[in-house]
Amino acid sequence: ARICMEPYRIKVVEPIALTTREQREAALERVHYNLFDLRAEEVTIDLLSDSGTGAISAAQLAAGMEGDESYAGSRSFYRFHETVTELTGYRHILPAHQGRAAERILFNTLLEPGGIVLANTHFDTTRANVELSGCQAHDIPCVEARDLDSERPFKGNIDLDRLRSTLEGPDGSRVRVVIMTITNNGGGGQPVSMENLKQTAEICRRHGVPMILDAARFAENAWLVTRHEEAYRGLTPRQVAEEAFRLADGCVMSAKKDGIVHIGGFIGLNDPELAEKCERLLIATEGFATYGGLAGRDLDMMATGLLEVTEPAYLAERADVASHLADRVRAAGVDILEPPGLHALYLNAGRLLPHIPPHHYPGHALACRLYLEGGIRSAELGSLYLGEEDEDGNPTKSAPYELVRLALPRRVYTRSHYDHVGRTLERIAKNAASVHGYRIFEQSPILRHFRAKLQPV
Ligand code: F0G
Repeated sequence: ARICMEPYRIKVVEPIALTTREQREAALERVHYNLFDLRAEEVTIDLLSDSGTGAISAAQLAAGMEGDESYAGSRSFYRFHETVTELTGYRHILPAHQGRAAERILFNTLLEPGGIVLANTHFDTTRANVELSGCQAHDIPCVEARDLDSERPFKGNIDLDRLRSTLEGPDGSRVRVVIMTITNNGGGGQPVSMENLKQTAEICRRHGVPMILDAARFAENAWLVTRHEEAYRGLTPRQVAEEAFRLADGCVMSAKKDGIVHIGGFIGLNDPELAEKCERLLIATEGFATYGGLAGRDLDMMATGLLEVTEPAYLAERADVASHLADRVRAAGVDILEPPGLHALYLNAGRLLPHIPPHHYPGHALACRLYLEGGIRSAELGSLYLGEEDEDGNPTKSAPYELVRLALPRRVYTRSHYDHVGRTLERIAKNAASVHGYRIFEQSPILRHFRAKLQPV
């Protein structure tokens, strides 16, 4: 196997916390076993999210120093606008401060109560914004997505048969938009093939329904297309990305992922009427159309990040690190959602901890143990996130899978950091029977995983 290495060296460093087990035990108790409530300074390796957590390059920092902070029409905006126009080809580009702001503005403008939105899988804020507009969000991932162990390369695809039958069926006229999330974060970070995007676009066009990309990880999707889709092997990730954007009628983008910035996002659209309506709402709620809630320096750093992110050496290394960690995790005896993507690994906690029932949250139990054993922070994606219980704590709904996401921040951790994660998992897996479950004793009615308080059972 080809050995990859980081195509950059480290110029600025930041110390990370090295804590004792006693400190971590006390911290867990203090936050009632909710990892969102830890202070980041109590975490050694923070794999909670790959969003806004990347390391910026010297070129991005320099671009930021050049930022033009004029209220309207700044040089930074024009630089950003030119970069995004060349990348996406959309006729109208509106900056926004992050992905969910772009979603809110687009859906408020495009949707009316009673409508339906279809997607390969909605990310949770996307779903929330659809529902806040009075619409229903339906996920129709492809059939292969259901098999966590299958190594099929494009498990992020939408189910084309269900897309067709929904659009032709009794609810067809209520479908307002089809969202393609690339890569499919809610479905294990799996990519969408260009063939699937093309066919979806064709079906949408036939029914007069716009297809919009949720393009947060467009470069990682493009990289995987160049690896696994025969017709695209000779192309660069940049070429694939350009083509993908042009298959759609527009996009919403969280640049906190594949813009490699700490804050930023945008909306891209071809429809001038829709763009004008979005612009009005943008000005009222985010900021003037040439800054959209961002500083000039943010726009400049985003423009530079959007160019760096499709560099083949960067993407090759990112894929290599993910597969390096995946090897360590499998060797530790822990199964992952296969195949590993680029932005995260999803651990199969349900399989590792069969003695913990869903309503005692095996994913959460593994996440807490990862912190206790190794100071590693991760995110549960299981029944704490998706399940429901009645007042007596009896389960009424559980998640389809009990997963833990290890998100990989861009350009931040090295292989030795990830080896620490592998060793920690190995110790946990050897002693899996000793991992215990949790019970919620206080929770909020929506998005409970962010705020729930738990205790061990
Ligand atoms: N779409 C996708 C696919 C995402 O993964 C996210 C964020 C958003 C939209 C929203 O963007 O955070 O800039 O408002 N995902 C982060 C994560 C939070 O950890 O996966 P945002």
